[in-house]
Amino acid sequence: MSFAKLLESLPIPILQAPMAGATFDAMAVAVSQAGAMGNLACAGVAPEELQAAVDGVRAKTDAPFGVNLLMGPPLKPEPAELDAALARLTPFYAELGLPTPDHPNRFSYDFDAQLQALTRAAPPVASFSFSILTEAQVDALHAAGSYVVGTANTVAEAIAWAEVGADGICAQGVEAGGHHAYFLDDIEASSIGTFALLATVTRAVDLPVIAAGGIMDGRGVAAALALGASAVQMGSAFLLADEAIIGPVWQAALKDAPTDATRLTRAFSGRYARGLENRFVREMRGVQDEVPPYPVQNRLTQAMRAAANKAGDPELMSLWAGQAIKLAKPGQAGEMVARWWAEAQDVAQAVAKQTAARGAAGG
Ligand SMILES: Cc1cc2nc3c(=O)[nH]c(=O)nc-3n(C[C@H](O)[C@H](O)[C@H](O)COP(=O)(O)O)c2cc1C
Repeated sequence: MSFAKLLESLPIPILQAPMAGATFDAMAVAVSQAGAMGNLACAGVAPEELQAAVDGVRAKTDAPFGVNLLMGPPLKPEPAELDAALARLTPFYAELGLPTPDHPNRFSYDFDAQLQALTRAAPPVASFSFSILTEAQVDALHAAGSYVVGTANTVAEAIAWAEVGADGICAQGVEAGGHHAYFLDDIEASSIGTFALLATVTRAVDLPVIAAGGIMDGRGVAAALALGASAVQMGSAFLLADEAIIGPVWQAALKDAPTDATRLTRAFSGRYARGLENRFVREMRGVQDEVPPYPVQNRLTQAMRAAANKAGDPELMSLWAGQAIKLAKPGQAGEMVARWWAEAQDVAQAVAKQTAARGAAGG
């Protein structure tokens, strides 16, 4: 079966976005069992634990699911760079009653080891963000029996993924919550809206395209399908689901957020990501381009974000959310996907009626 056929075989053409730190196996299983496709975010899973994580989902559902990794070369920052980065964070740590952390021994799990473990675990779909695999790595995943999806913020990135043999493209628009996938150009050149990206990527590559960014309900699903998407990937829409693991402080911030409250920021992690604007985002804005790249800054702010969460202080936490977060509602993930698909079908019918009526009036 091709990846296109796999997507066509889904009763509901919705993928739950992998969201490291916000979702794990319960959400992936619930969504796949409901006839859409769940995704396990494994960026924070140690290579030696990856097989068990994938097997855990496989044991609970026969339906297809995906596993996602965030890519990045192992970075070895100079001690002076770490000192400067930590000095910038010292006042925030002090506010929380914490000393400035020591230099960490490790900034993230080794991607090559994670990829090897993922290839051995052979989930039905493997998706990647932040960089691009080599042809040999894609071939190895294919040989193991996994389809490969590459995330793109630009047409050039989609073409690059097609050239290394990916089976599908996740086209992530600038509306999207969480980290953005760009890897060929800077954030400004890579900030393309979901409509424009989808319409151009579907013309540029002969692969199934999954639309992501700002899709929150059946209206968004129908619009993305109309623009040529084979399926959609929704993240923020699941953040208030029962199966999300975001905790009460983040949850309350999402519920109380004013409209138009998200910003792209590099301050928390060293890579641009979208979340609710808070004091940390504002106070770091002037120096955000100077912080060390992902995953270094991400690791350096980790203890601050965890302590703020524990203290109930949303101002020093990364409150990832997409531009349309005000449309997020609580509920069970399985019921949500069923509702969105029913809405999408209603919207498609309403548009067809409207078009027919106008056609008749025009004729
Ligand atoms: C809290 C959060 C965490 C995310 N973590 C990941 C991740 O681990 N891997 C990934 O490829 N994308 C991640 N994303 C991005 C999503 O895959 C997706 O592109 C995005 O949620 C789509 O936009 P939306 O939030 O408007 O639906 C994350 C998004 C959010 C909101």
